[in-house]
Amino acid sequence: MFQNRVTQLFNIDFPIIQAGMIWASGWRLASAVSEAGGLGLLGSGSMYPDVLREHIRKCKQATSRPFGVNIPLLYPNIDKHIEVVIEEEVPIIFTSAGNPKTWTSVLKEKGRTVVHVVSSSKFALKAEEAGCDAVVAEGFEAGGHNGREETTTMILIPAVCKAVKIPVISAGGIATGQQMLAAMVLGAEGVQIGSRFVASEEASSHISFKEAVLKAKEGDTALTLKQLTPVRMIKNKFYQAVQDAECRGATLDELKTLLGRARAKKGMFEGNLDEGELEIGQASALIDDIRPAREIVHTLWKEFNQALQQPLRPL
Ligand SMILES: Cc1cc2nc3c(=O)[nH]c(=O)nc-3n(C[C@H](O)[C@H](O)[C@H](O)COP(=O)(O)O)c2cc1C
Repeated sequence: MFQNRVTQLFNIDFPIIQAGMIWASGWRLASAVSEAGGLGLLGSGSMYPDVLREHIRKCKQATSRPFGVNIPLLYPNIDKHIEVVIEEEVPIIFTSAGNPKTWTSVLKEKGRTVVHVVSSSKFALKAEEAGCDAVVAEGFEAGGHNGREETTTMILIPAVCKAVKIPVISAGGIATGQQMLAAMVLGAEGVQIGSRFVASEEASSHISFKEAVLKAKEGDTALTLKQLTPVRMIKNKFYQAVQDAECRGATLDELKTLLGRARAKKGMFEGNLDEGELEIGQASALIDDIRPAREIVHTLWKEFNQALQQPLRPL
């Protein structure tokens, strides 16, 4: 049995974390990943507090293994989500997109394991100072909201590992076990994977969005909306409208109006591939099938071990 600080921190078999993702990671996906020996995370960013409570309860019924909740701190009324995870005794919380100082001590006082997602070594240090148990270092390749500085996973992992003593979990661009090994050779002690799990049977993402992910090749995603909240998405009609507006020199208010409400839901949950926001990472170029989450976890682990046996391509 493989063990390191990350498997011990979460009490899991493999250092593989399925990322919290809006409109994708509900109880079905999170419980399937946890049952398979990884760590499943509920993506609370697209849930009202009572919906989150329901997903936590269903997840507990579906698995007796550890699972967690991702709470992006950029949304309003986050205190309600915090209340729910405390009341429902969720042991592991991944916070993101905000200041780790705000909630870490509250959660730590309740005895929870807290991990914060960062995109630079500066923020990793802040998370460590705030009392986090680990950090996720998320590189430029990642799907969804992303750092402005565009630091790639290849650079970010060693930089963050040098800056902090707590375990570093690498995210952004990882879809295979070989990539997982590469991340761990660079110093990460685990991986957080999002895009690969969107193309799983259990993800609640719309089937048209999953199929668009399979079709995407290198260069088909881009980091956009940098003036508001940078996000990596598929270059569709909505993306083009944002690009055009930015080229015209649109103001922040104009961009906010263009974004409107519920763009992400429209694209990823309702399957409107033209008008919706289709958040996915560069790893989409490496994904060509929709599989059960259990199979994804076990394939990653098998590939990781094969690559570990023979890391270099012999003559
Ligand atoms: C569809 C989608 C939705 C996401 N939603 C969230 C979210 O709600 N909260 C969050 O912290 N990160 C979110 N992310 C980022 C992931 O948690 C994760 O860090 C990222 O997907 C890792 O990179 P990868 O996509 O290359 O695997 C999302 C990513 C995707 C693809």
